[in-house]
Amino acid sequence: MKNIKKDFPLLMAQESSYLDSASTTQKPQHVIDAVVNSYTKYNANPGRGIYDLAEQATKEYEDARKAVAEFIGAQPSEIIFVRGATEGINYIAHGWARDHLKKGDEIVLSQLEHHANLLPWQRIAKETGAELVFIPILQNGMLDMKAAEKLITPNTKLVAITHESNVIGTPVDVTAITKRAHAVGARVLVDACQSVPHKKVDVKKIGCDFLTFSGHKMLGPTGIGVLYIKKDVQDEMQPLSLGGGSVREVAWNSHTLADAPEKFEAGSPSLAQVVGLHAAVNYLQKNAPFDQLKQHEADLTAYAISELEKLPYVKVYGPLEILKKEGHSVTFTVDGMHAHDVAAYLNQQGVQVRAGHFCAQPLARLLGYDAAIRASFYCYTQKKDIEKLVAAIQSIR
Ligand SMILES: Cc1ncc(COP(=O)(O)O)c(C=O)c1O
Repeated sequence: MKNIKKDFPLLMAQESSYLDSASTTQKPQHVIDAVVNSYTKYNANPGRGIYDLAEQATKEYEDARKAVAEFIGAQPSEIIFVRGATEGINYIAHGWARDHLKKGDEIVLSQLEHHANLLPWQRIAKETGAELVFIPILQNGMLDMKAAEKLITPNTKLVAITHESNVIGTPVDVTAITKRAHAVGARVLVDACQSVPHKKVDVKKIGCDFLTFSGHKMLGPTGIGVLYIKKDVQDEMQPLSLGGGSVREVAWNSHTLADAPEKFEAGSPSLAQVVGLHAAVNYLQKNAPFDQLKQHEADLTAYAISELEKLPYVKVYGPLEILKKEGHSVTFTVDGMHAHDVAAYLNQQGVQVRAGHFCAQPLARLLGYDAAIRASFYCYTQKKDIEKLVAAIQSIR
C-alpha cells in the first residue's frame, strides 16, 4: 500500500509513532476539509428549510447516508446516524429489547464483548427478567462455535455479539451465528466497531437485524456512528427520542411518526460529522482499498507478533496465527511490569499505545491480567513505527 502518512497533519506534526488506532484513528486533511466546508459553504439545518442553502445541506446529508449504506450493503432507509456504537447498542436495548423481552428469555452475548455491548444488556436483563448467556472462548482466543450452537436455543430472543474483539483481535463468524439465531427466531445485533474500518462488511451477506459502528475509528470525526436497522425489523422498533424532524402530523395529544430513517433521528442532524464520515468513506475507498489495507495491516501485525514473541518476558494474547494473516493489533504484557508503566516508558520512547483493560474487564480477568498493552495499526502505520515499538520493548528491562 502506498505511504499515505503525509495526508495526516497530526502524524506529520509529531515525532511519536501513533499505535492506538483501535481506540480512535487520526484524520486525513480530506476529512478535516469536509468538516470545515460544511460550516463555511453550506451550513444550514438539513431536512427543514426550502432555501437553496438548506437544500444543499439536506443533499449533502442524504448523499452521506447513501454512501454509508452502499459501503455496508444496506439501503439508505436502513441507515440511522447516531453518536457512535455505544449509542447504537443502547438504541437497540431501549428501542427494541425492552419491549420484546420478558422473564425466561435469554440474551446471548460472548466473552469477548466490550463494555458497550455488555452493560446495556445487564440493565435490560434486570428490567425485563431476561437472562444473559455467554458464549465462551477457546484456549486459543477463538469463539467456541460448538458452544454457540448449543447456547442459542428457542429461549434466545437476542444475540448481541462483536464482529471482532477489540482486545485480542478475534474475528467472529457472525454469519453462522446469525443463521443459528434466526433458526430459533432470535434477532441479531452485530457490534462491528472493529471490523467495518478494516474489511468489507456486507449486512445482507451477514443477514443480521442490527449492526453498529463508530466513525472515529475509520478516519471520520468524533460524535458520529451508524446504526443499521434491517427494513423488516423497523416496525418492531421504537424511536429512542421523539421531537422535531421525526414526525408527520402532530396534535396536542397525539402524533404520527414519519417513515424510516427520519422517525429514528429526532432533533437537528449532525451535518458536519455526517459529511466528515462520508469523506472518510471516500478517502478509504480511494487510498486504502480493503484488499491492500488487509495485507498492509497483516504484515505489520505478523512482524510485531513474531518480534515480541522472541522476548521471553513478553506474553502475547489472542489467536496469533490468525492475527498474523488478518489482524491489525497486538496485545501483550511484560512480566514483572505494570502495563501502565510499560505504556509510560513507551511514551518516553516516542511510541503511543493503549494500556489497561480496553473496556473489557471480564475478558481481562479471564485472560489473567488486570491491564495489558495494545498496539493497534491502520492505513497510515509504517513498519518503522513497529520497529520503534519492538526496540523499546527489547530495551525495557
Ligand atoms: C468492539 C467495540 N465496541 C464498542 C465500542 C464503543 O465505541 P464508541 O466508544 O465509539 O461508542 C468500541 C470502542 O472502543 C469497541 O472497540
